[in-house]
Amino acid sequence: MQSSSAIKQNTFADDVLRGLSSAPKFLSSKYFYDDEGSRLFQEIMKLPEYYLTRAEFEIFSTQTSEIFEAFTRANETFDLIELGAGDGLKTSLLVDYFLKQGADFRYVSMDISEEALSCLTENFKAQFPGLSIQTEQGDYFRSLEIFKSKSDRRKIILFLGSNIGNFGKSQAQDFFRQLRATMNDTDLLFIGFDLQKDPRVILRAYDDAQNVTAQFNLNLLSRINRELGANFNLEIFSHYASYHPIEGAARSFLISRKAQTICVESLNKTFDFAAWEPIFMEISQKYSLAMIEDLAQTSGFEISQYFFDSQKFYTDSLWKPT
Ligand SMILES: C[S@@+](CC[C@H](N)C(=O)[O-])C[C@H]1O[C@@H](n2cnc3c(N)ncnc32)[C@H](O)[C@@H]1O
Repeated sequence: MQSSSAIKQNTFADDVLRGLSSAPKFLSSKYFYDDEGSRLFQEIMKLPEYYLTRAEFEIFSTQTSEIFEAFTRANETFDLIELGAGDGLKTSLLVDYFLKQGADFRYVSMDISEEALSCLTENFKAQFPGLSIQTEQGDYFRSLEIFKSKSDRRKIILFLGSNIGNFGKSQAQDFFRQLRATMNDTDLLFIGFDLQKDPRVILRAYDDAQNVTAQFNLNLLSRINRELGANFNLEIFSHYASYHPIEGAARSFLISRKAQTICVESLNKTFDFAAWEPIFMEISQKYSLAMIEDLAQTSGFEISQYFFDSQKFYTDSLWKPT
C-alpha cells in the first residue's frame, strides 16, 4: 500500500507533467501552499495593495452578529465547515462570537496544505480551548465526501478569501453544482467574492511593489525543484500580472526570459521553453453582482443575503439550496 505522502506526491507530479506538457504551459495554483508558500501568502495578506483580506476582515468584524443570526436556527447543532481555510484568521472572529453566544457547533477545517492545517489547529486550540475542532487534509471534494459520511448535522460551509476566484467561470459553476450535490436542503453556503472595481486597484493587488507576489509564484518552481528534482533557475523567470476588465479576470504568469530546457528528474522528462514563453500560474476572477446571481441560480442555489465592506470592494454572499 502507498503511504498518503506517496499518493500526494504522485498527484503533484501528474499535475506538473500535464501542465508543463500543455500549450500554453500552466501550473495549478492549488500547489502554491507548501511551508514557504503559506508563509508568503501571510505576507501578501498584509500588503497595502492586497485589499481583499482587509475588506473581508472588516465584514467579519463589523457584521458578526448579523452573520450569526443569518447562520443559526434556535438551539440547533451544526457543523461549521471551511473549505481551503488557510490561517483561519477571519473565521476566528466568527468562532469567538459563536462560542460567546453559546452556539452548539463543531468547526471542521479542510485544506490541501498540511502546513496551513497544522498552523490553524495550533492557533485555534490555544485561542478556543472549548472548541470542538476537526481537520481534513486534501482536495475540496475528497475532504467533503469523506466528511459527509461521518456527520449528519446541518452543514454551514464557508468558502472565503475569494478562493472561488481561482476557478474560471465554467469551473466555478461545476464546483458549485458538485458542492450542491453534497448538501441537504437546510444547509448553507457562505462565499467570499472579490467584486469588479477600478482595474488599477485590482492589478496592483497582484503586482505589489515589494514583489512578494512574484516570490509567491516563483516559490512553486522551487517546490518542483525540491519535491520532483527539477532544475528551474528562478533568476531566469519573471512574474507578470494582467487584468482584463471585460472578462473581470486577473491572471499571473511566470515568463521564461530565455530559451532553455528544464529537466524534471522524477518525471524522467525535459521541457523546452522558448524565449519569453509564459507559464500560466493563476486566475483571480472578479465578480459583478449579476454574475454572482447567475452563478447561484445555474448551480442550484438562491442568494439569501449579501454582506459588503464599507468600500463595496468585496462581498460575502449567503446561499441556500433551491
Ligand atoms: C487564498 S488562500 C485563502 C485562505 C482562506 N480561505 C482565507 O480567506 O484567508 C487559499 C487556501 O485554499 C487552499 N486550497 C487551494 N486549492 C485547494 C484545493 N483544491 N483543495 C483544498 N484546499 C485548497 C490553500 O492551501 C490555501 O490555504
